[in-house]
Amino acid sequence: MSAVSTIAATRWVRWPEAHTLADGTESPASGTARIAYGADYNPEQWPEEVWAEDMRLMREAGVNIVSVGIFSWALLQPTIDSWDFGWLDRALDLLHANGIAVDLATATASPPPWLTEAHPEVLPVNRLGETIWPGGRQQWRPTSPVFRRYALALVEKMAMRYADHPALAMWHISNELGCHNVYDYSGDAAAAFRDWLASRYGSLVELNRAWGTAFWSQNYSSWSQILPPRLAATHPNPTQQLDFARFSSDALKGYLIAEREILRQATPEVPVTTNFMVMGETRGMDYPDWAAEVDLVSNDHYLLVADPQAFEELSFSANLTGQIANRAPWFLMEHSTSAVNWQPVNQAKSPGQLRRDSLTHVAHGADAVCFFQWRQSLAGAEKFHSAMLPHAGEDSSVFRSVARFGSELAGLAAVAGSRTRQARIGILFDWDSWWASELDSHPTELLRYKTEAMAWYTAALANGLQADIVPARSVLHGPGLDGYDLVIAPMLYVVTDALTDALTGYVGSGGHLVVGVFSGIADADDHIHPGGYPGAFRELLGVRAEEFGGLLAGQTVGLSGQVPDGSTGSLLTHDVTVQPDVDVLARFDDGPFPGVPAVTGRSVGAGRASFVATVPDTATLVALVGRFAADAGIASPLPADVRGTVQLAVRETETLEYLFYINHSAQAVTVALTPADGRLAAVDLGGSTLAADSLTLPATGVAVLSRERTGA
Ligand code: GLA
Ligand code: GLA
Repeated sequence: MSAVSTIAATRWVRWPEAHTLADGTESPASGTARIAYGADYNPEQWPEEVWAEDMRLMREAGVNIVSVGIFSWALLQPTIDSWDFGWLDRALDLLHANGIAVDLATATASPPPWLTEAHPEVLPVNRLGETIWPGGRQQWRPTSPVFRRYALALVEKMAMRYADHPALAMWHISNELGCHNVYDYSGDAAAAFRDWLASRYGSLVELNRAWGTAFWSQNYSSWSQILPPRLAATHPNPTQQLDFARFSSDALKGYLIAEREILRQATPEVPVTTNFMVMGETRGMDYPDWAAEVDLVSNDHYLLVADPQAFEELSFSANLTGQIANRAPWFLMEHSTSAVNWQPVNQAKSPGQLRRDSLTHVAHGADAVCFFQWRQSLAGAEKFHSAMLPHAGEDSSVFRSVARFGSELAGLAAVAGSRTRQARIGILFDWDSWWASELDSHPTELLRYKTEAMAWYTAALANGLQADIVPARSVLHGPGLDGYDLVIAPMLYVVTDALTDALTGYVGSGGHLVVGVFSGIADADDHIHPGGYPGAFRELLGVRAEEFGGLLAGQTVGLSGQVPDGSTGSLLTHDVTVQPDVDVLARFDDGPFPGVPAVTGRSVGAGRASFVATVPDTATLVALVGRFAADAGIASPLPADVRGTVQLAVRETETLEYLFYINHSAQAVTVALTPADGRLAAVDLGGSTLAADSLTLPATGVAVLSRERTGA
C-alpha cells in the first residue's frame, strides 16, 4: 500500500453497550457482528402515540439503527432564540429502550423559514441570477458565512446535548450535501471562488495562463473582476467552468469539515459520516476526494426505472462506492423498498427486487442496508415515496418483505466486516474528466462520460467478469493499480503528466491498458495536449490522429478485422495512423476515415497498450473486453452459458470467501459448478437450490455461498 492514501479510514458504527430493554430482554453487546438495518426515521411527522407502534414494528422487522433528525431544524429551533429538544430526547430514549441505535443527524440540511426571512442572503442564486426561494429544502449557499454561523451553532447544540446519549452510534452530517445546492452563483460564491482561485494559482498571471484568457478578450487585471460562470452571451470559458465545478465540490467539502470538527471535538469516539450520492448522473461532488474526511463512507442509491440498465447501474455504483471506501465496509444509508416519488413514472419493486437490490449492495461491501424512510408520510412532497412501513400498514407485502429480509440479514451477520475482493479488471473513473469531457464546444455533445464507463463495466459483466470502478485519483494518491491485470480508461479526457507517467509505468511493468475514445485530450487546465490525438497517450499507444470524425445520432460506421461480423462504431472516429510495431485489430469500413485503424494494440515491455478509436456497439465491446481480458490472462469463474446473466461478486476475510451469485434476469438460471469451485457451503440461499454440481437461482435471485480461501 502506498504511503499517502486519501482513502477513508475505516471506523464503523459504535453500537450501543448491551443493556436491558423495555421488555426485559438484553440487547446485543456492542461488539456483536451485525449488518445494520433500518431507515430514516421522522417521528416528528407523527403524534407520539404512533411511536410505540413504530417501536413494535421496527423490532418485528429486525431494525437495529435509524437516522433521526435530518430535516428537523425548524422544530428543534422554532425561532431564532428558542430551542425544543424535548421530543427528540423522548424519541432517542424510546429507541434506546427498544435496542435501536441512532445515526443522529446534525439537522442542518434544510434551514427554517425564520432564518431565510431574517437572512435572505443565505439563499442560493442560480446562473441567471435568480434566487432559489424556500418552500422546498436545502435552500442555502454552501459558502454563506451567515448560514454557517447559524448551522454550526445548531451542530454545537446537538453535539453538546447528545454527546453522552447511549443510543448515539454515529453522526450524520447534513444530508446529501449538494443534492440541490451544489452550484450557487451568488456574491458569496463569487468571493469564495476568488479565494479558492488565489490559492490554486497564486497570481493573476498564472490564472490568466490557466484559463487561456488571451482568447476573447478575457484577460483579468484584478481579482474582483472574476465571477462564477454566470449566464454568458456564448460559451463560457471552459477552464472557468471546470474550476467552478472543482470549487463547488471543495466548498461543500469545506462545510462538511466545519461540521465534523465540532462533532469530533465533542465526541472523538463517535464516527462521523455524511450520505454520498454515488448514483446515476450525480456528479457535483468529487467523492473520492471527500472520502478521507469521513470516518466511514455512506451512500444513497436509487434505481432509475426508465434506464434499461438500471440494475447494472446499481452494481456499478455499489462497486464504485466500495472502491471509494477502499474496499472496506460501507453504509448503505438510503435506497427504496419500492417506488420513489421523484421520477416521471415511479414503479413498485417486486419483493424479489427489494432483496436483490439490497444484497447487490452487500455483495459490493455494504454492511448496512437502510431505506428512505421508516413510515410512509401522509403529507408533504414524499407522501408517495415508499417506506419500510407503507400507507397500507403492517398487513402489506412491502412490510412482510421488509420483515423477512430483516431476519435474513441477521443470518448474514458473519459477512459483516469482510472486505470486497479486488477484481483483476480496473475501470478508471475520474471526476475531472466527467466534468470537463461534457462541457460545451466539443467535437460532439453526444458522448456521455458515465455512459461510456458503464458500457465497459457491463461488457465485463457480460464476459462473466467483475470489474472494479477505480477512482483515477487513487492511481496517484491512493493504493495505485497493483493487482489489476487489465486497466480500462474510458473517456479519460483530463490527464496530467503524472498520470500519464503512472499509466506508462503500469504498462511497462506488465499491465494491460486499454484507452477508450476521447481520452488523453487535455491537461488539468483543460488545455489540449498538442501534436495529435490522443495527446497524452499517443506515445504509449503508438498511434496518432489528426482529426475527430464525429458521427450524427444514429449514424454508425462498419468495423472489420478481429471483431465480430457486423461490428459497428458510433459517435466518434479518428484518422488513426500507427507506429510499425502496432497491431491493427480492426479497421473502419466506411464513415469519415474508411480503411483506417479503429482498434489497435501494442506490446510494451511485458505489458500491452490498446486503443479503441470509436464507440463500439455492445456486442463488439463485449467481444473486445473478452479478448483484452484473455490477453491479460483473466478467465471468468462462471460457465459460459450464464455470463452476463449471473454476476459473481466476492467478499473475503482472512480465511473465507463469500460468493454472491446475483441473477440479473427475470428467469430462473442454473449455474453449473465444477471441482474448481471448491467446497461451497450455503450461507443464504433465499429460494435458490444448491446441489453438488449446480446452483439454481430463481428470477432476480441472489445466493450467498462461502468457501475456504485457497492460499490464504
Ligand atoms: C464566428 C466568429 C469567430 C469564431 C467563429 C467560430 O465567425 O466571428 O470569432 O467564433 O464564429 O465558428
Ligand atoms: C434523498 C433524500 C431523502 C429522500 C429521498 C427520496 O435520498 O436524502 O431525504 O428525499 O431522496 O428518494
